Amino acid sequence: MARITASVFTSHVPAIGAALDLGKTQEPYWQALFAGYEYSKEWMTQNTPDVIFLVFNDHATAFSLDMIPTFAIGTAAQYTPADEGWGPRPVPMVQGHPELAAHIAQSVIQQDFDLTIVNKMDVDHGLTVPLSLMCGQPHAWPCPVIPFAVNVVQYPVPSGQRCFNLGKAIAKAVNSFDADLNVHIWGTGGMSHQLQGPRAGLINKEFDNAFLDRLIADPAGLAQMPHIDYVREAGSEGIELVMWLIARGAMSDISGGAAPQVKHRFYHVPASNTAVGHLILENI
Ligand code: DHB
Ligand code: FE
Repeated sequence: MARITASVFTSHVPAIGAALDLGKTQEPYWQALFAGYEYSKEWMTQNTPDVIFLVFNDHATAFSLDMIPTFAIGTAAQYTPADEGWGPRPVPMVQGHPELAAHIAQSVIQQDFDLTIVNKMDVDHGLTVPLSLMCGQPHAWPCPVIPFAVNVVQYPVPSGQRCFNLGKAIAKAVNSFDADLNVHIWGTGGMSHQLQGPRAGLINKEFDNAFLDRLIADPAGLAQMPHIDYVREAGSEGIELVMWLIARGAMSDISGGAAPQVKHRFYHVPASNTAVGHLILENI
């Protein structure tokens, strides 16, 4: 049977991708940030999964305002890194896992979540930057990836509670796939940031650290936080954090298992306009 063995949580700032691609990781501004992912890259090589289920948000790249799916699962065999205005990032193509993705779509839709099926999609920094942070600059990504896009860009956005419940449904779907696969689930985006309006530049370290504490120890309580609290406390783009609840909801303790082990925790300000947060949790 397939099994979710770990969850990874990380911010996805586009400037991080540019710093990597342009060889700036050792510059004073970036050094401390990339140092925080050294453990993670080592952990990825020691714990390479068979598949990553990567929860991210598209930033009006693949989906414009013409069409806005709340939850979209990638069922394609391959995904091309998107051109976000400066040419595509020089990163590998993303290989998909159509069989597992189709199974998860079937199971999760039958568990009453409406997913959009996506057979063709270019993937933006929301997906490629987390892969770069966790895997460095390889010629090929270490395993297939199932992209799972969540609308946190155009209101109305899904609630934390719905995301958390969806995570549970995804875990159930993975556990019923009839092949011996080691699956990681990643929740990406966040932490506090606001890119526009009078509060542009907002960072809330207290909120972010409390969010990390509660994501680890009180995820069901955290799931009840209404979206307006994200916006007030973490800024308009802080709402990206609801995606972390999908990954957290898929961990075993939410469905009666033991609490996960915290393998790594990192927090750093600033990275562009964003506070960067990062966690690795392992199921026992
Ligand atoms: C920044 C952060 C984001 O999450 C994003 O999608 C775009 C830009 C930033 O901090 O610059
Ligand atoms: Fe973003």
